[in-house]
Amino acid sequence: MSDRYAVIGRPINHTKSPLIHGLFAQACGQQLEYGAIEGALEGFEAQVLAFRGEGGLGMNITAPFKLRAFELAERCSERAQLARAANALKFENGGIVAENFDGIGLLRDIEVNLGEPLHARRVLVLGAGGAVRGALLPFLHAGPAEVVIANRDMAKAVALRNELNHPRLRISRYEELPGQAFDIVVNATSASLVGELPPLPAGALAEARLAYELAYGKGLTPFLRLARDQGVARLADGVGMLVEQAAEAFAWWRGVRPETGAVIDRLTIPLE
Ligand code: ATR
Repeated sequence: MSDRYAVIGRPINHTKSPLIHGLFAQACGQQLEYGAIEGALEGFEAQVLAFRGEGGLGMNITAPFKLRAFELAERCSERAQLARAANALKFENGGIVAENFDGIGLLRDIEVNLGEPLHARRVLVLGAGGAVRGALLPFLHAGPAEVVIANRDMAKAVALRNELNHPRLRISRYEELPGQAFDIVVNATSASLVGELPPLPAGALAEARLAYELAYGKGLTPFLRLARDQGVARLADGVGMLVEQAAEAFAWWRGVRPETGAVIDRLTIPLE
């Protein structure tokens, strides 16, 4: 029987993870089975334990279970700890280990695939929720001049800054953004999922070289449209991040990191 993995989330019918991991396995000549499980709001933990009990070796976790997966694990990485969320689990020696590859996947997409290293750059991150928690440590480790978090609810941004207490991390109200220049702007709010635009003042994107939308497959979201209209040269959505986080999980489980370029090309939906 081949080694078994699965993604669990709710809803799960649109997941690309089985396709991505299937392509990775093929390219790396590895024998594995990767399924998709519709998670139950009551009983998610039992489903994970059952999958492990049936011989499963690892799982990817997607909304809304990342926090519960983190809490279920006995051990975790530093980035999963800060995110308080797991997007990947590994079952070993009877224990459950939690990881969070969302942030590192985003960083790799920006730096390697899009060719925009964060080193010495000024980075604006919109949002202060789970997605931002996952991205902050990898971002700060990349040596930017500054990472600025803007969020409507300032209490959330303050809590995050106090928790990290990093000299290069600053928070800002949306209204205070004009006059501050950024090289890279990342929309990590959930606004695009409902077709909304974060309250970005006019001119906030004026000097940006790259506008990155975490959401995937939504085309030109209001944020990307605004960036385009303000003259930002490079627009990207989260397809590269999706594939890169999967490659990190694959490497963690299988000990070999697959090539991502062809898989990203295959999944890319033109922005317009
Ligand atoms: P996720 O796991 O996707 O990060 P989350 O933890 O629920 O989701 O966080 C959602 C984030 O999107 C929050 O930072 C939220 O801002 P507030 O804390 O101020 O509510 C942000 N968000 C959602 N809709 C938004 C909108 N229309 N404009 C700006 N920010 C928005």
